[in-house]
Amino acid sequence: MSNSREAELLHTFKGIPFTTRSSPDLLKSLDTFDAREDDLLLVSYPKSGKLFVWLLAVDLLISYPLFIHLSCTEEHTPRGRSISTFRNIQTQVIVRKKKAPNNQMIYISRNPKDTAVSMFHYYRDNPNLPTVDTWAAFFDLFLKGNVVCGSWFDHFLSWAEHEDEKNILFLFYEDMKKDLPKAVKEITLFLNLNVSDNDIQDICKKSSFSEMKNDTEKENSDPNHTVCALTSNRKLIFRKGAVGDWKNYFTPKQNIRFQEIFNEKMKFSRM
Ligand code: A3P
Repeated sequence: MSNSREAELLHTFKGIPFTTRSSPDLLKSLDTFDAREDDLLLVSYPKSGKLFVWLLAVDLLISYPLFIHLSCTEEHTPRGRSISTFRNIQTQVIVRKKKAPNNQMIYISRNPKDTAVSMFHYYRDNPNLPTVDTWAAFFDLFLKGNVVCGSWFDHFLSWAEHEDEKNILFLFYEDMKKDLPKAVKEITLFLNLNVSDNDIQDICKKSSFSEMKNDTEKENSDPNHTVCALTSNRKLIFRKGAVGDWKNYFTPKQNIRFQEIFNEKMKFSRM
């Protein structure tokens, strides 16, 4: 890909890199975005499993008239509008929440090492993102926060400081992988939904990685069924769905470096 084509793929908004598919106008519009009281805000850093939760939530949220999916990309969902955002959205969301106390949010997080590996593949396989030649090069970009949506640490920490707020549910990808019914139960309790254990089991079955990936392959042929503005190819989203894949990529030296930075950045975080 030529350098000028590469340069066209990204832009910087308030110091954070975004793809041009999340246009400056769209990002700016978040400042005046009005969440409705019955909006559920689903927030995550890229590649943390948000679609996993989103699809679970779609099954649960039959009663929700509107579902907003906050990520760094603009997405079109079968259920309604969805918008793009970046980590600083929390300020707006928190302010609005005071106006609309019932507004609920789910923040999904994942081991940043696995997130980095997942994002590396997403960059490599996605023609709408700049080229990365090697894992080593991407590793450096990720640690510097020089990737779409910026630094994982900044994103996580800006939300973690709201951990005591009752209207935010923090979910961890690894917990969902370990015990999905438990995570779904947690979501139903948070959303105050009365869902039977049988229904929870059904939802979990439909939400397994293999089921979602299969559905995806069927829907790939339908151009109107785009889940992500960055790619209409869902195969890019359902890659491996595993915990600990980072061990296949990080060298011992990279692991030490990552861990040192992680320990330093996270030292004041209780999460
Ligand atoms: P991998 O690239 O490690 O496979 P997001 O939706 O935030 O972009 O996150 C994508 C990551 O979540 C991908 O990780 C994808 O495979 C994983 N994922 C999506 N649905 C999943 C599911 N049902 N079970 C497990 N992992 C899932």
